[in-house]
Amino acid sequence: MSWREHPDCPRRGSILCSLTDIPDEGGFEVTFGEGKENFRILLLRQGEEFWCYLNNCPHFSLPLNYHPQTFVTLDGLIMCAHHTAFFKFEDGECVDGPCSGTGLTALPTRLIGSQIVFDG
Ligand code: FES
Repeated sequence: MSWREHPDCPRRGSILCSLTDIPDEGGFEVTFGEGKENFRILLLRQGEEFWCYLNNCPHFSLPLNYHPQTFVTLDGLIMCAHHTAFFKFEDGECVDGPCSGTGLTALPTRLIGSQIVFDG
């Protein structure tokens, strides 16, 4: 199923968060819907740059974090908490771990003022 068909996918124009809600050099999650199958969005930031992905590891289709808002990041990489796959902030490519060569699914966004808005 494409993320666009997910029943909890936010509508275009939905505000995800402010740029400064995302820790610099870190990750931040925004969710839509309830339960284990809800729509989970991962935002990553370096300074004024940010990236947005589905919070879904391509290895076992699990979120990259165990605990709410707890992401392991290092030098522009984010690590999946389950089996330590590493993904690049800038394009979501898996550069190390059990799903090397795959990648996170990018989600379209735009910045309006200081707000990050879903643009899917
Ligand atoms: S679920 Fe992410 S590395 Fe296995």
